[in-house]
Amino acid sequence: MSDVTLNAPKLFDLSGQVAIVTGAGSGIGQRIAIGLAQCGADVALLDRRSDDGLATTAGHIRAAGRRSIEIAADVTNKGSLANAVARTEAELGPLSLAVNAAGIANANPAEEMEEDQYQALMDVNLKGVFLSCQAEARAMLKNGRGSIVNIASMSGVIVNRGLNQAHYNASKAGVIHLSKSFAMEWVDRGIRVNTISPGYTATPMNTRPEMIHQTKLFEEQTPMQRMASVNEMVGPAVFLLSEAASFVTGVDLLVDGGFCCW
Ligand SMILES: NC(=O)c1ccc[n+]([C@@H]2O[C@H](COP(=O)([O-])OP(=O)(O)OC[C@H]3O[C@@H](n4cnc5c(N)ncnc54)[C@H](O)[C@@H]3O)[C@@H](O)[C@H]2O)c1
Repeated sequence: MSDVTLNAPKLFDLSGQVAIVTGAGSGIGQRIAIGLAQCGADVALLDRRSDDGLATTAGHIRAAGRRSIEIAADVTNKGSLANAVARTEAELGPLSLAVNAAGIANANPAEEMEEDQYQALMDVNLKGVFLSCQAEARAMLKNGRGSIVNIASMSGVIVNRGLNQAHYNASKAGVIHLSKSFAMEWVDRGIRVNTISPGYTATPMNTRPEMIHQTKLFEEQTPMQRMASVNEMVGPAVFLLSEAASFVTGVDLLVDGGFCCW
């Protein structure tokens, strides 16, 4: 047997690491940002929201005994992302972890969808992930290490029955393949890139009052007969970001309650 001195629980420890999380003012990004802090990381919180979403996230991170900064920025803006990474490194230290969760969803029959609706969603969901990874990787390449997790969706693998969202599905398929491509470009320079593809998850994106009928269908269609809680995205994100996944890159981790099996 080889080295057994490995401290297995320590593999998930993120102490001393600096993370940036986009979409950190709500839902999946918010919960993952708090989870990273609970595992020891200091976290830069980026979102375009003007409500108190980021402040709420920051409050939980303070309670976990870690530091955070709040950055109001749009992931479609390359300059804002460069500034965000620079501020993160100046105030928290060298960037080593990133989770890109900022995203939007909407629907319309494909034959009726205006070009503007298609383009606005692609700009956030696909170009936004490209620009975020680019800004983050520039710092990580300089630092000689890094791990990035992009939040894609099972919609990048399957077509959601009853939802007319061709642009959303295509954007998420794009995020999965973009991430594999980044993973291979940076594989020999210390950076790992993976995706998490959540199934239906209870967040403001899915639990609006007008969605209540839809929510029931989502639960029925999921083999586990329920939606995911945002808490259930934390473990997968910590795993992929941490030393526990040191040989894992270019992977899409479905976290979908079994949805894609059926
Ligand atoms: N909720 C689900 O069922 C589900 C399933 C699969 C994938 N996802 C993906 O998970 C990610 C998070 O979604 P969520 O459900 O937590 O939604 P959410 O609406 O609760 O959170 C998304 C956050 O992203 C931010 N954001 C949107 N556009 C932005 C931009 N241009 N710049 C900066 N921030 C921006 C929003 O302000 C919001 O705070 C998204 O990429 C979404 O597509 C969600």
